[in-house]
Amino acid sequence: MDEAKKRILSGIKPSGDLTLGSYLGAIKNWVALADSCDCYYCMADMHAITVRQDPAELRRRTVSQLAQNIACGLDPKKNVVFIQSHVPAHAQLGWVLDCYTMFGELSRMTQFKDKSAKNADNINAGLFTYPSLMAADILLYQADLVPVGEDQKQHVELTRDIAHRFNTIYGEVFKMPEPWIPKVGARIMSLQDPQSKMSKSEQDTGGCICLMDSPESIMRAFKRAVTDSDTRVCYDPDGKKGISNLLNIYCAAAGITIPQAEKEFENKGYGAFKTAVGEAVVEMLRPIREEAGKLLGDKAYLAEVYRDGAMRASQTAGRTLRKVYKKVGFVER
Ligand code: TYM
Repeated sequence: MDEAKKRILSGIKPSGDLTLGSYLGAIKNWVALADSCDCYYCMADMHAITVRQDPAELRRRTVSQLAQNIACGLDPKKNVVFIQSHVPAHAQLGWVLDCYTMFGELSRMTQFKDKSAKNADNINAGLFTYPSLMAADILLYQADLVPVGEDQKQHVELTRDIAHRFNTIYGEVFKMPEPWIPKVGARIMSLQDPQSKMSKSEQDTGGCICLMDSPESIMRAFKRAVTDSDTRVCYDPDGKKGISNLLNIYCAAAGITIPQAEKEFENKGYGAFKTAVGEAVVEMLRPIREEAGKLLGDKAYLAEVYRDGAMRASQTAGRTLRKVYKKVGFVER
């Protein structure tokens, strides 16, 4: 490993199929960082079970997510791509960090508040302590940067607080990680309800685009996207939430700035604009969908990737875990 390279860790939970939000908010940036950094990317299946999952579906989505990550351009030789539950150090450090995370801190997490409101019949302890498991994911790898969308910033900030608390007691055990949030695409909103985040849980509503969706269904979703009664394509995230969201998506997909996009659609009306956004997204996702489809046909290759990833991730994670166990006073085996 090149010592000058920054260390990256990030993850996505396979609780639903990958969406345009996870692509623009996270994976696209993972790929951009992959050459210049030393990267670890996990399929966070342990995080997914905080909400009830169908076991066969969870297995399918975890492997499919891995294939889609590779199809997005992540080279598993250059990056360590692995499945979280394959590296027991995550659960082991997660428990230790639970003991250094305060009840009050976890109670203030907006995602916990949102999810417990949505799953009132299953507010389990895992949903509550989820951020300390996420802190373990990050701190095990001594990550410098954590590329995530806006919604995960609070969890990375809590990770810093936990690391700081632990380091203050035991010395410099953990590297202090920084969130890395993209300028464009950090918060992609639902196409049907532009007040709320595009999320895996709203699949089949037309509000969410998945990376494996067909071009026809993507075009249909953009044509039906909720906008407003005005006709001007201009960026106004307070007054014109739907159009501003479409502008963000268009700019991220076409690689241009908001003023350039506004100029392109001056006097063109919403119909032409929505069609152009849909086409840009279809073209951006086409090679990913095709490549992921091929990879999914080669289960042996995918198994080779996650086994190799688990081995490499375990080596790095094991070093940190041994240090932590020693510091807190566990007897060496
Ligand atoms: P998850 O699985 O909900 O989302 C995965 C990544 O995609 C980003 N994202 C979005 N970005 C922009 N707009 C959206 N609509 C959108 N939806 C999702 C998220 O910010 C995230 O970066 N707890 C994490 C997974 C995780 C993790 C980690 C992340 C587990 N361990 C360690 C970083 C480091 C989660 O549930 O993300």
